[in-house]
Amino acid sequence: MSVRSFFPTRIYAAALQRQPWKPFNERLLRECLQLQHDDLAGQRWSAAHYPGGYTSYSSASRMQQFSPTFARLETLLARHIKKFATALEWDLEERQLAMTDCWVNIMPRHVVHSLHLHPLSSMSGTYYVQTPRGAPGLKFEDPRLDRYMAAPPRKVGCGEDNQPWVTLPAAAGSLLLFESWLRHEVVPNPVDRLRVSISFNYSWF
Ligand code: NI
Repeated sequence: MSVRSFFPTRIYAAALQRQPWKPFNERLLRECLQLQHDDLAGQRWSAAHYPGGYTSYSSASRMQQFSPTFARLETLLARHIKKFATALEWDLEERQLAMTDCWVNIMPRHVVHSLHLHPLSSMSGTYYVQTPRGAPGLKFEDPRLDRYMAAPPRKVGCGEDNQPWVTLPAAAGSLLLFESWLRHEVVPNPVDRLRVSISFNYSWF
């Protein structure tokens, strides 16, 4: 084989913990819904920037510092962050990769989270708290897409590593990690039940 692959885009997907995840997610869900109820600043921000949904991104974005349940999530995430950084062969000597932000996203039916990346961070990810059947996954875009210019389109049904977009399932109890520069989105939730997730950023200090 004379064709080799370079410059891979890596995405990490795993179950958060080995033991049953439902009791932990029930606690997280209660706190997410309570936060939505209490967070007036977040409600206002979401009405303007996240129509129909709720996010604490601009109002309560360091939940790991305020809630023992979210702090527990940070603890449980640690081994996954380490594994992904190892897979990326990041040289983290003398500085630490640490959680900077951790916020709640609640998406009722029809709510969309348009294409974005996470500036000023190194690694980002999402943990899924409640994902009703039929709720959308996380859709990632090939980071080279803006350079393709006259490149021919890919064949329908081409291999997944040649797809310009890939959607990984959002499954309650599991998490996805990616490098923060990788653009991603959540397409409209077609299901009449809440899709609830917790997103987070890590920076290298
Ligand atoms: Ni995001």
